[in-house]
Amino acid sequence: MQLSRLGTPLLIAAIVFLSAACEKTQTTQLGPRGLGLVQNAKPHDIAMLAEKNKVPVPLPAANPDGPRAGEFYENVQLLGDYSKSEFGRTMISIKNWVAPGQGCGYCHNAPYYEEDTKYPKLVAREMIKMVRHINSDWKEHVGKTGVTCWTCHRGNNVPQKIWFKPNDNDPHGMVAGRSPMRLPTASSGNTGLPSDVLEHYLLGNDNLRIVGTDALADNTNRRSIKQAKYTYGMMMVMSESLGVNCDFCHNTRAFYSWEQSRPQRATAWYGIRMVRDLNNTTLATVATLLPLNRMGPAGDGPKIYCATCHQGVNKPLYGFPMVQDYPELIASKTPDYVPGPHPHSDRDDDEEDEKPVTKKGVLGGMKSKN
Ligand code: HEC
Ligand code: HEC
Ligand code: HEC
Ligand code: HEC
Repeated sequence: MQLSRLGTPLLIAAIVFLSAACEKTQTTQLGPRGLGLVQNAKPHDIAMLAEKNKVPVPLPAANPDGPRAGEFYENVQLLGDYSKSEFGRTMISIKNWVAPGQGCGYCHNAPYYEEDTKYPKLVAREMIKMVRHINSDWKEHVGKTGVTCWTCHRGNNVPQKIWFKPNDNDPHGMVAGRSPMRLPTASSGNTGLPSDVLEHYLLGNDNLRIVGTDALADNTNRRSIKQAKYTYGMMMVMSESLGVNCDFCHNTRAFYSWEQSRPQRATAWYGIRMVRDLNNTTLATVATLLPLNRMGPAGDGPKIYCATCHQGVNKPLYGFPMVQDYPELIASKTPDYVPGPHPHSDRDDDEEDEKPVTKKGVLGGMKSKN
């Protein structure tokens, strides 16, 4: 009796649950008919990604006239050839993108803005250099879309998608000895494939190509099953990072063939080289500036991979060219600008009150939401 009364609501609940779980997959055909170059996506995931990839409204453009920040302030090494107002706009934007919770004090010991005593300020300088390097020297990858601090940080001090070397002593991290086969981890696209692939391909420059092109002619170790697992591990990481299938880049009947691949595969090729470059330059330098609690389980510093920028979509922020509103993050205004000695650099501390910075408010006329 009781069971049959419960039956109807239970049945309805089951139907509602099942129909929600069996959401229809949307497919998009990317290549000519017959090749099966198809991307699959769930409407729920599309909605979630759209929410996650909202772009903050840019601050209104600042007055390019007036004193240069390099003349007006004490210790501006990179942004000195922009006007004081433009400089103020950059500071507010950086604050909004990287430290909205902490504000200017995350990097500065106000009112001594010129001091280089807080590590985030030193890291931020390296980051400004990195962003300019990406936007001007890695156009083969980032095109005109470019990147800003927001691309990776999205309002967090530490970007959400970073990686460290796996810890060999972590009982959950591996099966036995230095076996490369571990339990599924994010660093192998959540597969049981080797979890140290990122070390090989995004820090080191191991060769990802494993398909032999001569029958039995090549008996080097690279054509092994072990190497194929490494390549597949990396391919899973790339696919997951961009939220795409293998055939977003490859025609899967010929993984090796560039002629049969989509142009996006070439963009990805540059992406691999760009990430290697940045992990071995900026991120290596940053590791020497960060406190110990920022280091990974094996003691190494944080590193980037495809998801750090892409965060689940084929073009970060769906290709919105956010950096075009922030030319100071593409290059300095006068490319060979070298800051000269500051006229007040020999002042003693008593003169601090005289500094226009503390008197007028750091940003002159500009309003900070902080
Ligand atoms: C994420 C770190 C970071 C945040 C947050 C930040 N700044 Fe800065 N600030 C820097 C860096 C880096 C420099 C040096 C830039 C250079 O060398 O070109 C700088 C320099 C300055 C200077 C020049 C000081 C001098 O005399 O040399 C002022 C003024 C300043 N910031 C104000 C602000 C204000 C106001 C805020 C908040 C709205 C802010 N900053 C938020 C990193 C930051
Ligand atoms: C390509 C991705 C990327 C971009 C773009 C980027 N960052 Fe970072 N940033 C990182 C990574 C990775 C770290 C290291 C994480 C950590 O500190 O543990 C980091 C760390 C930092 C830190 C130190 C945070 C802390 O407390 O440890 C600051 C400050 C910072 N970035 C500022 C900036 C600013 C300012 C910009 C834009 C000019 C910028 N970043 C652009 C990836 C990026
Ligand atoms: C975002 C683009 C992209 C996606 C997605 C992608 N690949 Fe790749 N794949 C590449 C690039 C680029 C290379 C060459 C890398 C290099 O030379 O450094 C490559 C190389 C390979 C190779 C080696 C080919 C050879 O000549 O030896 C195989 C196999 C492969 N991918 C399989 C896959 C599989 C399986 C997937 C899905 C799990 C996948 N790829 C997803 C871009 C992609
Ligand atoms: C520093 C940020 C950043 C990192 C890290 C990064 N990318 Fe990108 N990627 C971009 C930007 C920005 C674009 C958009 C370029 C454009 O609009 O032309 C892009 C575009 C692409 C595209 C073309 C997508 C399309 O629809 O045309 C592919 C493929 C790609 N990236 C693959 C990768 C892979 C694989 C990695 C890791 C090895 C990677 N990216 C790492 C910023 C990044």
